[in-house]
Amino acid sequence: MISLQIRKRDGQLEPLHINELPKKIGKEVRLRGWVHRKRGSGSIIFVVLRDVTGTIQAAIKKDGVDEKSWKAASDTTVESSVMLSGTVKEDKRAPTGYEIEARSFENVHISEPFPITEYQSTELLLDKRHLWLRSIKMINTMKARSFVFRYAREFLDKRGFYEVTPPIITKAGGETGADMFEIDFFGQKAYLTESSQLYAEALEFALEKTYSFVPSFRAENSRTVKHLAEYWHLEPEIPYCTNEQAMKLEERLVSHIALRLAERNADILRALSVDPQSLLKVRPPFERISYEKAIGILNDKGSDLKWGDDFGVEEERMLTEDKEKPIFVHSWPREIKPFYMPINPKDERTVLSADMLAPRGHGEIIGSGVREWRLKELLERMKEVEEKRGIKFNMKNYEWWIDLRRYGSIPHAGFGMGVERVIKWMLNLDHIRDAIPFPRMSNRLEP
Ligand code: 4AD
Ligand code: MG
Repeated sequence: MISLQIRKRDGQLEPLHINELPKKIGKEVRLRGWVHRKRGSGSIIFVVLRDVTGTIQAAIKKDGVDEKSWKAASDTTVESSVMLSGTVKEDKRAPTGYEIEARSFENVHISEPFPITEYQSTELLLDKRHLWLRSIKMINTMKARSFVFRYAREFLDKRGFYEVTPPIITKAGGETGADMFEIDFFGQKAYLTESSQLYAEALEFALEKTYSFVPSFRAENSRTVKHLAEYWHLEPEIPYCTNEQAMKLEERLVSHIALRLAERNADILRALSVDPQSLLKVRPPFERISYEKAIGILNDKGSDLKWGDDFGVEEERMLTEDKEKPIFVHSWPREIKPFYMPINPKDERTVLSADMLAPRGHGEIIGSGVREWRLKELLERMKEVEEKRGIKFNMKNYEWWIDLRRYGSIPHAGFGMGVERVIKWMLNLDHIRDAIPFPRMSNRLEP
């Protein structure tokens, strides 16, 4: 049978990917990948080959290949990198419906005994994360992660935002400043950024609609299923934007990511036991409740939370356990929100802010709000935060940011979305560490 596949100058076939095989039934193909599983008897060896697109079983028969190929197949081990050629056969018994009848087999590299076998402890899988990334579950999760990044950028790029690149090493805290990793910067005290908001604001006054999409670092020693010490933070800034307009943009962004995943990556979702239908429900508008109303709901459910208390994991769960879409909690008390948030003129107990909470207890995925853009009010607000919370801003480190309020200031708003929190929710993961390839947590720094 004549193959339509391109042959290279040396007569070898150009390798295909496993997901291209349904179009090649009866044809000869060449594949390359890793040995996912291997079993065999005296005259036939079965190898399940894995590449980025899937797995397929190849049957290597002693009388169907030359001696060199037979030896290579006999020698191969789990996770060896291999190349093989053969004919694509339809086989109803095979898990994928297809099988390769091998014509040649070659080891690129024979793997040492693979340290991960079936039924390993969570700790071992984290210790061997660099190898566990090859598992079908992690491959699908990392593909979904890549698409979440793509769709988030796609949404903002289409709306005329510029992606900007803030520094990671900084002197000014972007949030409380209390949870920053200190580093020795040539003898000066510096920190890993906890939020790029302040720098995104400076760039906003030049480029208007901007977003930064880099890691943020939090030294909070919270051992919860939703805290990472290093996470990817998407932080848009929007000129002349109100709190309500920011919420509208946030719900559209989150909906865009959910719908795109459901529409374009249903195969990945199903492989991770996620029903694409559940993400198709994530359409605007999202419910909006005030902090005050949320306290009432929580109290009715038995919580003794009172005005001025922040929500913990349990409160977030109570508010969202029966929801199919995220909700907004807005109008937070001025005493628990950051120094850059302006007082709400309609209710001076509160600031112009909103948090987006994911459904089913997955927690806060977005923190957002208007920025205090007036110099006098900003300085007053910073003073208030200092006095009420017993902290001291090193104003020298904030002068450059305060300058923005001195030279052509404009009203503006913005938000920060924790990408791993979004992935955890959309893929219904038990723990945020599985939403990032190499998690950094208070008890995990390696690999
Ligand atoms: O609510 P946060 O602290 O807000 C800010 O940093 C603002 N400066 C953002 C802005 O307006 N530009 O963090 C924003 C989001 C949270 O809603 C959450 O999704 C995520 O960042 N986040 C974390 N994700 C994983 N691990 C942690 N330890 C996180 N802390 C915050
Ligand atoms: Mg927050």
